Amino acid sequence: MAAGGEPARLWLVLLLLLQLETPCSSACGSPGQQGWPVPYRRFDYRPKTDAYCQARYTFCPTGSPIPVMRDDDVLEVFRLQAPVWEFKYGALLGHMKIMHDAVGFKSSLSGKNYTMEWYELFQLGNCTFPHLRPNLLAPFWCNQGAACFYEGIDDAHWKENGTLVLVTTISGAMFNQMAKWVKYDNETGIYYETWMVKESPQEQARVWFEPYECSKFVQRTYQKLAELGAIFKKIQTNYTTITLFSGEPVCFGNETAIFGPHGNKTLALAIRDFYSPFKPYHSAKEFFLNLLRIFDEVAVDHQFYLFYNLEYWFLPMKYPFMKIAYEEIPLPHSNSTKLGI
Ligand SMILES: *[C@@H]1O[C@H](CO)[C@@H](O)[C@H](O)[C@H]1NC(C)=O
Ligand SMILES: *[C@@H]1O[C@H](CO)[C@@H](O)[C@H](O)[C@H]1NC(C)=O
Ligand SMILES: *[C@@H]1O[C@H](CO)[C@@H](O)[C@H](O)[C@H]1NC(C)=O
Ligand SMILES: *[C@@H]1O[C@H](CO)[C@@H](O)[C@H](O)[C@H]1NC(C)=O
Ligand SMILES: *[C@@H]1O[C@H](CO)[C@@H](O)[C@H](O)[C@H]1NC(C)=O
Ligand SMILES: *[C@@H]1O[C@H](CO)[C@@H](O)[C@H](O)[C@H]1NC(C)=O
Ligand SMILES: *[C@@H]1O[C@H](CO)[C@@H](O)[C@H](O)[C@H]1NC(C)=O
Ligand SMILES: *[C@@H]1O[C@H](CO)[C@@H](O)[C@H](O)[C@H]1NC(C)=O
Repeated sequence: MAAGGEPARLWLVLLLLLQLETPCSSACGSPGQQGWPVPYRRFDYRPKTDAYCQARYTFCPTGSPIPVMRDDDVLEVFRLQAPVWEFKYGALLGHMKIMHDAVGFKSSLSGKNYTMEWYELFQLGNCTFPHLRPNLLAPFWCNQGAACFYEGIDDAHWKENGTLVLVTTISGAMFNQMAKWVKYDNETGIYYETWMVKESPQEQARVWFEPYECSKFVQRTYQKLAELGAIFKKIQTNYTTITLFSGEPVCFGNETAIFGPHGNKTLALAIRDFYSPFKPYHSAKEFFLNLLRIFDEVAVDHQFYLFYNLEYWFLPMKYPFMKIAYEEIPLPHSNSTKLGI
């Protein structure tokens, strides 16, 4: 234990100093100090969802654990993408490409194929808008998301108005490594984040918050595979992003800080008010109407209260306020040295 003493004490002093230097207003993890975008928070474990949150559609009904492949298997990896909602919206939404993303795998040894995706436990509306419950001051969120793995690829579903395309080929050994990462990712990344928040529509504009949704999971998976040595094809891969535009965000703190006994009542009511026009329960169509309503509210007041990492942030909104885009995020560059597969 000889190494324990001095360095440990030094660290303790440093830590204390750091804490003293943090402005005490900061109930928030990282106001500016860690820079932007605010890092998505990972947790030690996934809490049980509250019984109030009831899924209309069972999450991952045919899910199974990720099987172990033989190291010398060869698997094809597919990019899967399809419109989120398979019904017609009419002219209003006709030109918005709101896509859902997933990854497919096909084992050449067994011939079996699999789909892997990450999505909301209680659907998009519940991850984007909270419930305002009469007996609770704080807005109530049913906003967990998780990974789902199941056997089979529904070719027709992905192909018809979307995409089913081979992006790379990997070994069974790489697949097994990836599976370990998925387990970690699924246990620590728990809350769905709908919005990207940026300073302006310019490409180089500062990003304040990154979304955390299905497409980000797919992109992380590709990145992991590239790190494991996968070499991706040169094809264009576009994804849907819902972006808000705002000046520098201000953190207010978590639920307890705002809605607890020592919270600022004016602020608490302002946040509740902000969310009151929106209904998390309903259909996809209503989700859209809610989005448009947000747009109205935001364009008039230039205010948005974002819930991110379980904390509330104030966004001083700027024109053009909100944008839904379908833009390219390239496949990862493969590491220059490919490990023998
Ligand atoms: C809320 O923030 C306070 C102050 O930073 C912290 O002590 C508390 O543990 C947080 N509560 C939750 C539920 O995260
Ligand atoms: C959203 O959450 C509410 C409250 O639990 C629930 O009643 C509703 O079914 C959920 N919506 C969907 C589409 O799952
Ligand atoms: C594909 O789009 C067409 C035309 O909008 C629609 O009629 C059809 O139901 C869609 N199919 C799927 C699987 O979404
Ligand atoms: C991810 O976590 C959820 C919730 O615990 C679980 O239902 C699901 O099976 C997990 N997914 C994978 C691929 O292990
Ligand atoms: C996946 O397997 C099913 C059932 O065998 C088959 O119909 C489908 O074409 C396969 N899809 C891919 C992309 O391999
Ligand atoms: C690929 O690069 C990443 C990041 O530089 C590194 O962590 C990883 O070990 C590399 N993998 C291979 C197979 O070279
Ligand atoms: C309480 O919040 C309101 C609205 O954000 C703000 O104007 C006011 O200054 C806050 N009061 C205190 C004491 O922090
Ligand atoms: C995909 O993204 C690129 C660049 O972001 C864009 O130019 C292109 O039009 C997009 N493709 C589709 C089909 O929208």
